[in-house]
Amino acid sequence: MGDMHTTALSPTPLGSPLRAQFPILAQRINGQPLVYLDNAATTQMPLVVLDAMRQFETTARANIHRGVHTLSQRATDVFENARETVKRFVGATQAHELVFTSGTTEALNLVTQGLVHGLDGRTAAIGPGDEIIVSGLEHHANLVPWQQAAKRSGATLRILLPNAHGQLQADDLARLLSQRTRVFALTACANASGERPPFEALLALAHAAGAITVLDAAQAVAHSALHMDTLACDFMAFSAHKMYGPMGMGALVGRRTALELLTPLRLGGDMVQSVNYQGAVFAELPARLEGGTPNVSGAVGMAAAAGFITSIGQHAIESHLADLRQHAVRGLQHIDGVTVLSAQTRMSAVISFVVQGVHPHDIGTLLDARGIAVRSGYHCAQPLLDYLGTGPTTRASLAIYNTHHEVEQLLCGVAHAIGVLR
Ligand code: ALA
Repeated sequence: MGDMHTTALSPTPLGSPLRAQFPILAQRINGQPLVYLDNAATTQMPLVVLDAMRQFETTARANIHRGVHTLSQRATDVFENARETVKRFVGATQAHELVFTSGTTEALNLVTQGLVHGLDGRTAAIGPGDEIIVSGLEHHANLVPWQQAAKRSGATLRILLPNAHGQLQADDLARLLSQRTRVFALTACANASGERPPFEALLALAHAAGAITVLDAAQAVAHSALHMDTLACDFMAFSAHKMYGPMGMGALVGRRTALELLTPLRLGGDMVQSVNYQGAVFAELPARLEGGTPNVSGAVGMAAAAGFITSIGQHAIESHLADLRQHAVRGLQHIDGVTVLSAQTRMSAVISFVVQGVHPHDIGTLLDARGIAVRSGYHCAQPLLDYLGTGPTTRASLAIYNTHHEVEQLLCGVAHAIGVLR
């Protein structure tokens, strides 16, 4: 354990100086200062995001796109400005559009179900004989919907399996791609292992083969600059609550031509141009895919979170998280019996590990007694952890407010838990 203290701790403007922006972090849990390391599940919100949402709720709250009255118009402007801010944040151009959703899961379901339903006389984009390739690193939200899409459409689902180290290889994808490949879906960072695949190259390969490409950016968007204008990506999904924004909010950004392929799933108000008793003409994008009253306050919070990240800079955030991750990985590797998944991966905020002979739930419980919040289990990615043979893991995940001191507390907590449990 001695080596942990010799890790070079680079000075950073992140970590402690930012913590005043996050009042929730100041509390004690089980009598100990909170060490919040469950950021891959949900990040905390800074005051600037909370203030923006409060400002909307107290000065502009009204339904959007529906009223000629001043508040409704103000709310509509706020909502559409938020859309533009989040689009800019992910490098969307005129060729793209952004649809607000309740999160990554809804965004991915919108793509999968939208591609297989040939509603209203439209031909479904995926049909019998087509092939769908999904990476083996995926969260259930980017796997289960594709399983169902394959069943409903008569397409074949193929999995791009990782190697024994949990890495995806371009050669393996090249072997799977065929003239029948209709879709390739993968994550920008695996939530369960922390592996950061070479998604830029993999998307480009699939795109060149004619596939519709889908990126689950939930675990990357808070710290990696993702540019739709440079990625060979047709659809990108992400959540506000993993980028310092509110829960229940997310987005699907897509090329307009790809979004046009989707059959709307939420049918009702605001997604139609005209309606009679027999039928309806759907509205243009993005309204067509946003039926019902949206989460306007959520959109405001998401846009404020994007502004918060931009004001710090993704490069600075990535380098802070890389330092913390290296510190944690090295420290854990010095503890007897601990194996860290994807230890070598870069640009990841997730540290997932197993301890020989000790169940992750017991480690999580003992860490919680010390005020340290981690996640334990399968992390909604059971096929990957079963395939790698690790079973459930303990997962610590980092954010801009975490510090090297907190990493030390994690390492001491894990060593203590193992001492108790063995
Ligand atoms: N998808 C979230 C996680 O990985 C909930 O924990």
